[in-house]
Amino acid sequence: ATLTATGAFAQDYPTKPITFVVPFAAGGPTDKVARDLAEAMRKPLGGQIIIENVAGAGGTLGQTKVAKASPDGYTLLVAHIAMATAPALYRNLQYKTLEDFEYLGMINEVPMTLISRPTLPANNYAELSKWINDNKGKINLANAGLGSASHLCGLLFQSSIKVEMVTVPYKGTGPAMTDLIGGQVDLMCDQTTNTTPQIEGGKVKAFAVTSPKRLSTPALKDLPTLDEAGLKGFQVAIWHALYAPKGTPKPILEKLNAALKAALKDPEFVKREEALGAVIVSDDRVNPEGHKKFVESEINKWGPIIRAAGTYAD
Ligand code: MLT
Repeated sequence: ATLTATGAFAQDYPTKPITFVVPFAAGGPTDKVARDLAEAMRKPLGGQIIIENVAGAGGTLGQTKVAKASPDGYTLLVAHIAMATAPALYRNLQYKTLEDFEYLGMINEVPMTLISRPTLPANNYAELSKWINDNKGKINLANAGLGSASHLCGLLFQSSIKVEMVTVPYKGTGPAMTDLIGGQVDLMCDQTTNTTPQIEGGKVKAFAVTSPKRLSTPALKDLPTLDEAGLKGFQVAIWHALYAPKGTPKPILEKLNAALKAALKDPEFVKREEALGAVIVSDDRVNPEGHKKFVESEINKWGPIIRAAGTYAD
């Protein structure tokens, strides 16, 4: 029998509540998928799962916390594409992405939507494009900090249309959405898991989606893709995955991977995710090797794009 760092038998795991660290503020898409996943994993795993939001620095504070946590299976990380963008953005990142984590498997892929405050005087992408050109230098673009999904999409959007905007960073796109609805900021690129309810509720205006094809979600199906709106090849999908600190005992990793696999087949979880435009990954990506290989390929994909944009955080 394997003893964990705390001397408990790994076979009995879990014997106390497990913490999912979410590296962004409550109310955003990362928080949402973490809470839904915790719900779906509680059943196969048994025991309690609690969410701890550790926001800041584009998700790297929460990611660092888990990289340095005790490898006993009780502190896990639900993180997204920021795991692949941080190495290019944060010069003194406090962890090594491919060495300091156990890769438990991927969860989903989520497309993004380009949305605006409800008072912005444009009602389709062509009118938005004109408004942007008429308001150069005065446009506020909200995001969740350097390296966040909203930052990455915003970076690509600005470089595609060759218009620089004032970016307003938040601890997550949950709080950013509040200010967008209130009209304090003009635009945001955010995941459909967060924007769909607001679009359905008429709280924000939606102009386009970042997926290769139009989405089937009723509230989003009439939105053009940015590619068809003229930004050829524009495509951003935000993926989420589950991690543990390096050195977590194998029996615990196997229990967590099995519970993750079961959760991704939970009809309630799948229904919730798909209703918001998210896609659950295929089984072959819910394995540690496939997950790690994918993150490595994403680091190699986004690194050059970010460096070309010349954005750095110190
Ligand atoms: C992001 O832009 O990275 C996410 O929306 C942040 C969040 O989950 O709040």
